Amino acid sequence: MRKKTALLLGGSGLVGGLCLDYLLNDSYYTQVKVLVRRPLSVEHPKLIQHQVDFDKLKDQHSKIKANDVYCCLGTTIKKAGSQKAFRKVDFGYPKEIAVLSHANGAEQFMLISALGANPNSSIFYNRIKGEVEQAIAQCGFQGFYIFRPSLLLGERQERRLSEEFGQKIFQWFSFGFMGWLKKYKPIEGKAVAFAMLQMAKEKRRGKQIFESSHIQSIYDQR
Ligand SMILES: NC(=O)c1ccc[n+]([C@@H]2O[C@H](COP(=O)([O-])OP(=O)(O)OC[C@H]3O[C@@H](n4cnc5c(N)ncnc54)[C@H](OP(=O)(O)O)[C@@H]3O)[C@@H](O)[C@H]2O)c1
Repeated sequence: MRKKTALLLGGSGLVGGLCLDYLLNDSYYTQVKVLVRRPLSVEHPKLIQHQVDFDKLKDQHSKIKANDVYCCLGTTIKKAGSQKAFRKVDFGYPKEIAVLSHANGAEQFMLISALGANPNSSIFYNRIKGEVEQAIAQCGFQGFYIFRPSLLLGERQERRLSEEFGQKIFQWFSFGFMGWLKKYKPIEGKAVAFAMLQMAKEKRRGKQIFESSHIQSIYDQR
């Protein structure tokens, strides 16, 4: 079997951490690289950690090399401190990593975007997500997979009160997410991480968009 490498961004986050588990424990990849700001406490024979300065990605382009790239990066406007700082993390870094990894021969790029992503949206968050999808689509990957989850469920180390409140509300009314409302149903981070790996293995060509209900059905069929 050909040796395959994965490069993961956002491995310290909710979906990224779950994605790292899947990537390390599946035989599909022989090597898993992570780009991190701070070292992860995970050790594994397949794992290579690169601690990088995300503002100087070009200087470290040789580390941004793999067959498949998994981008689980993201922040919130509150955490980033401003819309500009949010855009840097959710648009600037993913786009730069896409350009550099493609130049280094990457074939597939898996991006976590979000429900409602649309470059023409009047909602800032949805617009940035739409813009990053659009920018990466122009890089020319053999396969570009966009995952648009609804509200993410899962254990976080940090407390996000608005998300916790949203999770409770959605869980109480989860029976109501039927028909066209299905794509709004909150989804477990592990379902997104699982779907990313499964779809990468299928090696589809061109741009593929997975709305939240589709991600859920991939996970349900496992
Ligand atoms: N939360 C939701 O309900 C929801 C819904 C739909 C879509 N999404 C999207 O799904 C994706 C994954 O979400 P998540 O909740 O799993 O994310 P998360 O837990 O907040 O993790 C975000 C990751 O991005 C990294 N990151 C943040 N700021 C950074 C910076 N300035 N420089 C370098 N790395 C940085 C974090 O690294 P550090 O540990 O170093 O900070 C972490 O690894 C995001 O793009 C998010 O927008 C989220």
